[in-house]
Amino acid sequence: MSQPGRLAGRLVALGITGSIAAFKAVDLLRLLRAEGADVVVLMTPSATRFVAPLTLAALSRRPVDADVLDLLPDGRIGHVITADAADVVVVAPATAHWLGAMAHGLAADVVTATCLATSAPVVVGPAMDGDMYAHPATQANVRILREEFGYRIVEPETGGLASGQVGIGRLAALERIVDAAIDAIGERPIRKPDPADRPPRLADADDLARDADDLVGRHVVVTAGGTAEPIDPVRFIGNRSTGAMGIAVCEAARDRGARVTLIAGMVQAAIPAGVEVIHAETAAAMQAALATLVETPTGGAGFDALVMAAAVADFRPAAPADRKIARTDAGLTLELLPNPDLLAGLGRRVRGLDETGASTGTPILPRPVLVGFAAETGGLDRAAAKLGTKRVDLLVANDVTEAGSGFGTTTNRVTLFAADGRVDPLPLLPKRIVANRILDRVAGLLDARDAAAQTGATPTPGRTSS
Ligand code: CTP
Repeated sequence: MSQPGRLAGRLVALGITGSIAAFKAVDLLRLLRAEGADVVVLMTPSATRFVAPLTLAALSRRPVDADVLDLLPDGRIGHVITADAADVVVVAPATAHWLGAMAHGLAADVVTATCLATSAPVVVGPAMDGDMYAHPATQANVRILREEFGYRIVEPETGGLASGQVGIGRLAALERIVDAAIDAIGERPIRKPDPADRPPRLADADDLARDADDLVGRHVVVTAGGTAEPIDPVRFIGNRSTGAMGIAVCEAARDRGARVTLIAGMVQAAIPAGVEVIHAETAAAMQAALATLVETPTGGAGFDALVMAAAVADFRPAAPADRKIARTDAGLTLELLPNPDLLAGLGRRVRGLDETGASTGTPILPRPVLVGFAAETGGLDRAAAKLGTKRVDLLVANDVTEAGSGFGTTTNRVTLFAADGRVDPLPLLPKRIVANRILDRVAGLLDARDAAAQTGATPTPGRTSS
């Protein structure tokens, strides 16, 4: 077992590639941390299929860099910052494919790109099937890395392999890899002691590992993704929403104990396990799905909170064709009709108001908490007004033109506008953490609602003590 503290103050870039041994990288990360290292994890796309980036982010307290084209949450180029700051790059497990890519400088993933861009020592722990390791191609690549690049190869060990064979190819004992990293650094000075020169830490790393139970017994409905308004059976009007923010809210609400129903539009992100799903690809279908949930036979709401993250199309073709429209040289003019504002409609319905704002005398009690989103371009000036017109308790506004905040990103910078006038600008954060911040408010509003109901006071979900 290695001595503690031998990597104190050092930044170790841990590159993980897609071998079955990738799960061992979790323990390797723990050992490096136990030696006092600050670790940033780099993954090839196939490595992310063996071990969840979220686990590695939570343990390293840093966002995982798994996409060579992705910028860091603060807009810098991740692999270049890591390459310049790391005291050592440790690639373990390294697959036969990765050894080949590295030997030939093919920087299609962040691990290879970081190795190419760095002047730090590189330690490589290959892991693969015995025949693959013995193959002349692999051996030639290992020789290039060792002899031409000066990389330290921590030779794999002999033993049982995932293939069922016994032979050489098993990832070296993790302590040997840690020792090799310490040895490779030697007496070199710490390259970038200033945290500002290193890849960013998670703004609130504890949020990722959080597993609160403050939504147990609550039913949270989330809409996510864009709607597709048909032009004909094969074409539609859509938008750039991927559904990632809504999916993050589903996962976070589920992990906090809620029953979660997802009303899914056109969603590109994977639908999480443990979530009930209603597919609703048009605004009309989404409206119908919401209607089935909003009113129970006893006049109550069938849910406690609605997080309306879907990008509902504001317009739909007036008369979708029932056959594919053929190409003509004359072009095509589409007539569009406005879709109803689903959220504004619900805001009125739960309060017992009609279209004119007059009371119908039938509010829904206890009143569910409503959360809306506002995707703005160029400032958030209109967000506060949307809070009022949609009669929501919380409006989550972001500027989709800002770096790291647009469609398909893993991060988001939002400002929370609450019905009680509180305005909370949040920093750029992973979407999962944004989801938790939104749910912190939802949980607080629901507790306040229930407390008010018990004391007989007017329920005021627009106010929260949090
Ligand atoms: N929304 C809705 N029904 C619509 C359009 C939007 O329920 N027909 C909801 C969205 O799900 C989101 C919120 O309203 O929670 C704000 O959407 P946004 O597109 O920003 O606002 P709009 O009201 O459409 O205003 P504008 O297009 O003028 O920005």
